[in-house]
Amino acid sequence: MPPPIMGNRGGNHHGMPVSKARNVSGTLRRIWSYVAKSPRLLTLICLLVVVSTYTTVLGTSLIGQAIDKYIITFDFAGLAQFSVWVIAIFAVSAAATWLQMRLVVSVAQNTIRDIRQDLFYKLHTLPIVYFDRHTHGELMSRLANDVDNVGQTLNQSLIQFVSSILTVLMTVTAMLLISPVLTIIALLILPASIFVTKSIAQFSRRYFSLQQRGLGDLNGLIEETISGQRVVKVFGRERIVIDEFVKKNNALKDAGFKAQFFSGIIYPLMNSLNNLGFALIAVTGGWLAVTGYAGLTIGKISNMLIFSRQLSQPIVEISNLYGTLQSAIAGAERVFEVIDEPAELSDGKLVDKSTLRGNVEFQNVTFAYKKGENVLENVSISAKQGSTVALVGPTGAGKTTIVNLLTRFYDVDEGAITLDGEDIRTLDRRTLRQNLGMVLQDTYLFSASIRENIRYGRLNATDEEVEQAAMLANVHRFISHLPNGYDTVLADGGEGISQGQRQLIAIARVMLADPSVLILDEATSSIDTRTEKHIQQALLTLMNGRTSFVIAHRLSTIRDADEILVINHGRIIERGNHDTLYAQKGFYYNLYTSQFKRVAG
Ligand SMILES: Nc1ncnc2c1ncn2[C@@H]1O[C@H](COP(=O)(O)OP(=O)(O)OP(=O)(O)O)[C@@H](O)[C@H]1O
Ligand SMILES: [Mg+2]
Repeated sequence: MPPPIMGNRGGNHHGMPVSKARNVSGTLRRIWSYVAKSPRLLTLICLLVVVSTYTTVLGTSLIGQAIDKYIITFDFAGLAQFSVWVIAIFAVSAAATWLQMRLVVSVAQNTIRDIRQDLFYKLHTLPIVYFDRHTHGELMSRLANDVDNVGQTLNQSLIQFVSSILTVLMTVTAMLLISPVLTIIALLILPASIFVTKSIAQFSRRYFSLQQRGLGDLNGLIEETISGQRVVKVFGRERIVIDEFVKKNNALKDAGFKAQFFSGIIYPLMNSLNNLGFALIAVTGGWLAVTGYAGLTIGKISNMLIFSRQLSQPIVEISNLYGTLQSAIAGAERVFEVIDEPAELSDGKLVDKSTLRGNVEFQNVTFAYKKGENVLENVSISAKQGSTVALVGPTGAGKTTIVNLLTRFYDVDEGAITLDGEDIRTLDRRTLRQNLGMVLQDTYLFSASIRENIRYGRLNATDEEVEQAAMLANVHRFISHLPNGYDTVLADGGEGISQGQRQLIAIARVMLADPSVLILDEATSSIDTRTEKHIQQALLTLMNGRTSFVIAHRLSTIRDADEILVINHGRIIERGNHDTLYAQKGFYYNLYTSQFKRVAG
């Protein structure tokens, strides 16, 4: 981030690369609808802005009067009295400025809180398909950076815009009242200095853009090598990684130097130009005063000098605001884009747990993630209440896809899936999912205590119920042996405990939820035999009395299934129980002899 340039409040990202907004006025209106939620606060802010700019201009013009009335006439008693007035006016100005800043900060913070909330809410009502199409990082960046950017800009620009315009208007008026000629001179210098700054800024923007890209590159490398540290070590790639880093780091240094240098000379240059204007006014003013033109006094000339100084800052600020606004609006657009995504509808029939039996049927289901590339073709399954259906097949066959359709993460393209005879597309998604228990391939645990993680299954469960579920899931012993027991806080995603243990906790979670239909996507990675046995037992308890879809890699789970479906390339190619399929000596037989995991005992 470049340092603030041109001594303004806050820091304009002058010279920063600007991502272009597409619909500026629409987006501004949208942001305004959030800002305008506190109309009383806004009115107060506007009043304060008027007060602070007016008192600043007034105080300044009083200085000139003080020179003419008291200093030149050596009336120091009068000066002392007058000073009290001037000080009082500047005090009011300072107080108003301080208060308006405070209020604006709270308006800005409220605004981004509301935007953030709308965005987060939307993220949780979006269909899974949306997450397939957008990366983690992209969504995180919208939630964090883009929203922040809007807030920052609001903090800076909301007042700046109004107060800059007011300051310019009032100052120019005050100057015109003193001397139109000097005012014109002061106004002539301004475009020149703005032109010079703009051109250098454009130049440095190129390097800022290079710097940004270099920074992204470097961060990417750092992130990758830190999360992939083990792989880097195992393959002995440290040297190569470091060399690459040095190269990128140097490139960043070069771009950074140029960007900072060019943006750094803007301020001194501006200053010189301003000094030039200053000198011009002083000389012309002095000459006019000496020649007795229009009653110019020393006080008036010094006022003109101060005013001309006061004028350049808000004008530069307004011209800078454009760039800052552009990038904030572009960020806001990205945020609103997500907020405007159609949410997953939740308007079907509610699924009532007490009357649900759990008969599930797939009728000639065909499905594609991408049009034209069918992942499932003509799949029919009939799972009676309480029965277990095992889905087996090579990796990429479509097993997880089958259960993704049952949970309505995606909807079928052809055919239908029914639950107790009702097409699941007519059912309310939320209550449908509440009646489907899932233990997924990649178990996700939240960074909370183990107790909270299990309770995720049913939020109103008591501690006893949580522990009972853990006992049924065979994980109570393990948890009790942890130093903090059930209060052990799991790190991000459940790191720190083994995958098998994670799965046991997930089983306890589902046990507590007590769903009628169960979906198990067994983890493929190897788990030690003892944990494996625990999982096996826990699963048997869990599956008891529920309709279960099991994507199985364990021989034991498969052997006990009422029906085994062998899936390959999205089609069911064999079906039956273990003995009949084994005897067929077909695909299942081969899979069985080569792939399934045998668990001792
Ligand atoms: N979200 C997705 N978007 C696009 N294609 C997908 C998506 N998920 C899976 N696929 C593709 O669909 C096919 C079936 O994938 P699926 O995850 O159902 O396989 P699987 O049988 O569960 O495999 P595994 O045993 O490895 O878990 C694969 O070709 C996969 O690349
Ligand atoms: Mg899978």
